[in-house]
Amino acid sequence: MHSQLFKECQRRRADLMGMIGRQAAAIIPGAQEKIRNNDVHYPFRQDSDFWYLTGFDEPDAILVLLPDGQRSRSILFCRERNRQREQWDGPRAGLEGAVDIYGMQDAFPITDIDDILPGLLEGREQVHFPLGRDSEFDQRVISWSRYNRRQGSPQRLMPEELVCITHVLHELRLIKSRYELQAMRRAAEISARAHTRVMQAVTTATDERELMAELIYEYTRAGCQTAYAPIVAAGVNACVLHYTANNQPLDRDGLVLVDSGCEYANYAADITRTFPASGHFSAPQKAIYAIVLAAQQAAIATATCAHNWDSPHHAALAVIVDGLLDIGLLSGSREQILETHSYRRFFMHKTGHWLGLDVHDVGDYQVDKQPRQLEPGMVMTIEPGIYIAPDDEQVAQSWRGIGVRIEDDVLVTKHDPEVLTGMLPRQISELEALIQGG
Ligand code: GLY
Ligand code: MN
Ligand code: MN
Repeated sequence: MHSQLFKECQRRRADLMGMIGRQAAAIIPGAQEKIRNNDVHYPFRQDSDFWYLTGFDEPDAILVLLPDGQRSRSILFCRERNRQREQWDGPRAGLEGAVDIYGMQDAFPITDIDDILPGLLEGREQVHFPLGRDSEFDQRVISWSRYNRRQGSPQRLMPEELVCITHVLHELRLIKSRYELQAMRRAAEISARAHTRVMQAVTTATDERELMAELIYEYTRAGCQTAYAPIVAAGVNACVLHYTANNQPLDRDGLVLVDSGCEYANYAADITRTFPASGHFSAPQKAIYAIVLAAQQAAIATATCAHNWDSPHHAALAVIVDGLLDIGLLSGSREQILETHSYRRFFMHKTGHWLGLDVHDVGDYQVDKQPRQLEPGMVMTIEPGIYIAPDDEQVAQSWRGIGVRIEDDVLVTKHDPEVLTGMLPRQISELEALIQGG
């Protein structure tokens, strides 16, 4: 385990224990392997909350935190070493590894949890866990916490209160540490390289599949996975927001929208670029692209501590509405368009989301029903777009089927926003030069 991650996980567990207090215990389950089809599993991905607190990448593990000031304990229930299973599936840390490598105070076999955990919860008033995420796990926590009542042993004082840990844990995850930002910068860099490969390949590629392969090639070489199903959408497919078929021929005169990012050390990047398959934007494509780019730049400028969560969206929206009015795709007054939401015909999603261990990362967007003030260490995407349906008969033919989104990952700092994905070109002339350079 990387020594920086080791220290981070220790600090995060200590912070969380400080937040829940000495009367409480916390139980955080890891992910389990999932069957894809007969005898085949999905690639294993650790649960983000569990990973955040442990850095432990095996299935079938549960973390228990027992706050007690200097004597606080982190206990891992996990798989035991097993020579035969390890020959088939690869090495396990085992109980010793949980202590020696992952810094737990103690470790027990996951198969013994029903016998051991109730004893550890004795004397605690509350149990904090991700309540409501998995009803089967909820039931297990209830049975561990009610152990004495079921057994009828009155001398045991078992927790009365079950508390959802999600909110406090996710508030911690929302503010990224220096270590996390290093990982996110790396995810951004690798993803930017993958997008560059795609642009360099587009003039000779014949279909979306080939471009998708360029992304996967670059991620795999760098030891990463895709953070989410990539969108490689040629021509009118760009107007389908969650297009993931990625199997159609390229439209030579059309744009290609690629929304893809990798996961490095479980941290996601999330980038969208839209560019002409031919290497030359047509006049209508250029007009739409220029509006989206200006909207994105205006939104990024508001990703500062002086603004709140809604500010980038409002900034992008104002530029998009003005731009669509200018080119005649919307009519009426700006106020009326904003009030009636008529812009949603062309811009139907929000301008971003938190980014971190999850691509749509955790953390509240509002506090007391108000958009949350931005703070240093928050990372968000900024991703405005304009999509003109191919069958929209209310607009001239030349606009139809154009879909443009530009998405970058932005860190809020004490000063100016830092665009983590800033190394990847987005200006019209830069994109044309990159594509034509091949
Ligand atoms: N790629 C998912 C998103 O942009 O939100
Ligand atoms: Mn995206
Ligand atoms: Mn996104």
